[in-house]
Amino acid sequence: MIRITLAGCTGWVGKALVAAIQAAPDLELVAGVSRSAAGRDLGEAAGQPANGLAVFATLEEALKLPSDVLIDYTKPNSVKGHVLAAVAAGRHVVVGTSGMSAEDYAEVDVAAKAAGVGVLAAGNFSVTATLLRRFAREAVKYVPDVEIIDYASASKADTPSGTGRELADTLGAERMAGTSKPVSELNGVRETRGGAIGAPHPVQVHSLRMPGFVLSCEAVFGLPDERLVIRHDAGSSAAPYVGGTLLAARRVGEQAGLRRGLDSLMD
Ligand SMILES: NC(=O)c1ccc[n+]([C@@H]2O[C@H](COP(=O)([O-])OP(=O)(O)OC[C@H]3O[C@@H](n4cnc5c(N)ncnc54)[C@H](OP(=O)(O)O)[C@@H]3O)[C@@H](O)[C@H]2O)c1
Repeated sequence: MIRITLAGCTGWVGKALVAAIQAAPDLELVAGVSRSAAGRDLGEAAGQPANGLAVFATLEEALKLPSDVLIDYTKPNSVKGHVLAAVAAGRHVVVGTSGMSAEDYAEVDVAAKAAGVGVLAAGNFSVTATLLRRFAREAVKYVPDVEIIDYASASKADTPSGTGRELADTLGAERMAGTSKPVSELNGVRETRGGAIGAPHPVQVHSLRMPGFVLSCEAVFGLPDERLVIRHDAGSSAAPYVGGTLLAARRVGEQAGLRRGLDSLMD
């Protein structure tokens, strides 16, 4: 039985995870974290029948109860502290929350290896979004000119999305230099060319935030006189992320250190 502490148990994804963890025969929910629901029954706080488990205001308190894995679906401003605290407490960690930079992940990797625990982080735990990343990696071997467009709702707190950031990091590491003029040589409003993410060949990422979108991500590849667009669209429920997150919780302990992307578990 894998025992799970869930940070963000009252959130959009967190509530769906409470139901799914409780329905899984090999997983055991131990405690939840949410500031606004602290002191309440975890089941009720997540919109389920009461389950006798506690919600804590801080991860530090929740980690006093023994568990094997922390799943974090909180906010960009809390995720890094949560991950490092859980690693220091000897927990494996599944990171769903977006917002950590490549430098943050490097720090997490060092801490996880030193503690002998696994961390699995994915900007998008959905199977079809993972396939977007996989197909884009294949395309970038042949087509180095690529840019990313990330679409999300008006209320999304971080930019770009975790999906867009992770894709840019991956493609930036794997592509050859593109042919577009360097942004520094352009006239006009340079911000309109988007943000540069990844190394050694950063990818321009353009984020749209407006009503009408949930979360979509597009990788646009260009060659002379032809284009390839690979696009993922998420619907309005958290269902796509649940299966991948639970798969990660089951497998995160297999290897010490950081792994990124659900595809690190595929094949
Ligand atoms: N990787 C993926 O596949 C994937 C999929 C969807 C979303 N995401 C990302 O996952 C994160 C959560 O998304 P969501 O839509 O579920 O968010 P949400 O509905 O706003 O829920 C956030 C949850 O985190 C808790 N929380 C926020 N700040 C906290 C803190 N400082 N300490 C403890 N708990 C805190 C909230 O409770 P209180 O406010 O009461 O503390 C709430 O339970 C976002 O970064 C989102 O981009 C990732």
